[in-house]
Amino acid sequence: FHVDWDLVTAEKAGFDHFMLKEIYEQPKAYRDTMGSRLSDDGKSVVLNEIKMTPEEVKAIHNIHIVACGTAYHAGLVGKSVIEHLARIPVETDVASEYRYRSPIITKNTLVVVVSQSGETADTLAALREAKRCGARVVAITNVVGSSVAREADDVIVTWAGPEIAVASTKAYTSQLIAFYLFGLYLAQTLGTQEEAVLAETIAALQALPEQVEAILEQAETYKAVAEKIATHENLFFIGRGLDYAVAQEGSLKLKEISYIHSEAYASGELKHGTLALIEEGIPVIALATQDALLEKTVSNIQEVSARGAYVIGIGMEGSPSLEKSVNEQFLIPGTLSLLTPALSVVPLQLLSYYASLARGNDVDKPRNLAKSVTVE
Ligand code: G6P
Repeated sequence: FHVDWDLVTAEKAGFDHFMLKEIYEQPKAYRDTMGSRLSDDGKSVVLNEIKMTPEEVKAIHNIHIVACGTAYHAGLVGKSVIEHLARIPVETDVASEYRYRSPIITKNTLVVVVSQSGETADTLAALREAKRCGARVVAITNVVGSSVAREADDVIVTWAGPEIAVASTKAYTSQLIAFYLFGLYLAQTLGTQEEAVLAETIAALQALPEQVEAILEQAETYKAVAEKIATHENLFFIGRGLDYAVAQEGSLKLKEISYIHSEAYASGELKHGTLALIEEGIPVIALATQDALLEKTVSNIQEVSARGAYVIGIGMEGSPSLEKSVNEQFLIPGTLSLLTPALSVVPLQLLSYYASLARGNDVDKPRNLAKSVTVE
């Protein structure tokens, strides 16, 4: 009697790849990251790891979010979340660019660095530059005791657990949760939102893990479309507002593991150039989860459809249907517009995963890429 057994197979816990396992670990990562950071009455956020006094929070003039890769994309969502909830101006920068544009950092600037590993060279250098200029630095990281965690003033740990696949999934979504918590914390400290809004947002946050589970129950439904995408060499993602931020992450995910060239565009920018690239049959993944922008997004979808694009729409349950304007429609469960990224990225992760599989690629270890980049 012989059983084939090795450590890696065991660690995959029955999944074919680490990436798929990590996609499925997201509900747990959401729960663990929210954990004890929500008050029992569901009315407030408790972020004891932030040691700022209320006066220090009130003295923040602006926020710089700095990160690389997928963490940068989480920062794009973070900007919208903080500006919406706390009304503080936020800029999000790629860490490898940040230092070289002589950013205006004062002691009233709060710098938020985001890094799954906590070891990315450019992110660490940005943190040091921010500190040199006298700014306070908050780190969002998945590794307790990492360089970034050690050097920052305050650390919000994402409890995603170890992420093995090079393409980041649960670390990204846990970073989103960290930004929601931090945005709520700032809002409640500054009094920029009514108590009812805070409570409503917290309730919607708490519903996310089950909603991700609901998406994952339908995971197989993404296979056929992913196999169709896998036969193409070019593809576009479009979206407005938060959908645009998620589109950028979806595009990166697809590039990293399927090697299909893709670009993410703000839907409204299409007609300023990219529309020239739309030809018969080209897949366009259109995110349309933002109710307030839906009408405009639908008209952008029609612009690409009219030129023969094969449109895959990601909409939201309870919102007007996209069915008439798209070739394939997938729906995420209903949530607040601000929270949709934590759900809408999951279908994009699954599409990338299945497209990579269909192309016979090494899903967990894409060519030319490393999990952690410790050189500049
Ligand atoms: C590498 C990884 C990406 C990651 C980026 C930043 O490029 O392949 O998945 O987003 O580094 O990593 P960090 O650990 O700083 O989040």
